[in-house]
Amino acid sequence: MDESIKREELEKVREEILACQKCRLFETRIQAVPGSGNIETKVMFIGEAPGATEDQKGIPFCGAAGKFLDEMLEAAGFSRADIFITNTVKCRPPENRDPEDDEKAICRHYLEKQIELIKPRVIVCLGRHASASLLPGMDSISKIHGRALKRQNGIVYLPLYHPAAALHNGGLRSTLISDFMKLPAILEKMDEIEKSNPKEE
Ligand code: URA
Repeated sequence: MDESIKREELEKVREEILACQKCRLFETRIQAVPGSGNIETKVMFIGEAPGATEDQKGIPFCGAAGKFLDEMLEAAGFSRADIFITNTVKCRPPENRDPEDDEKAICRHYLEKQIELIKPRVIVCLGRHASASLLPGMDSISKIHGRALKRQNGIVYLPLYHPAAALHNGGLRSTLISDFMKLPAILEKMDEIEKSNPKEE
C-alpha cells in the first residue's frame, strides 16, 4: 500500500479511537491512547492498556514501564523510531485494573485495523493480556514467553512478560531481558528466509 494512503487510513483509525465512547472506559479516561511510532516498521509492540502517565500524555509506554522498554530496545539495537507501539485496550482502566473481557472485545477492531494497515512481520506481545488476545488458546505466559510463534497469517508473535511486571522482580526482569534479546535474531532469520524465497512478481 502506498505510504500516504496508509498514513491517511491510520490517521482515520487514530481519530476514531480519540473520539471513541463504545465502552465504559471513556467515562474515566483523560484521553485515549491510539499508539505511536513508525508505520513502515517490521515490528509492532502491543501492551495491555494505558496507565496513568499514558492517560495524561496520550503516548503509549511513556511511564516507568516505558523507560524500561526503551532500555531493552536500545540494548537490542532499536529505538522507538523503528517500531510501532500500541495496546490491546486504548483507554486507561480506572486504578490500572485489568481490562475487562467486554472492553477488550469492543476495542479489538481498532487493533486489528492497525495490524492490517501496518502489516508487521513480528508482533511482540507485552504481557499476558496482549499474549492471550493475540494468541488465543495458547498456554499461559509463564509457559510461552520468549518463544517465536509463527501463525497462518505469516506473522511471527513473540510473547514476553510485561515490562511493568518485570520491573521490580529480579527473576522476571532477567527472563524478560534475555527473551527480548531474541528479537534481532528473529528478524535476521526472517530476512534470510525472505531472501532465499523471493516473492514472484
Ligand atoms: N502498560 C501498558 O500495557 N501499556 C502502556 O501503554 C503503559 C503501560
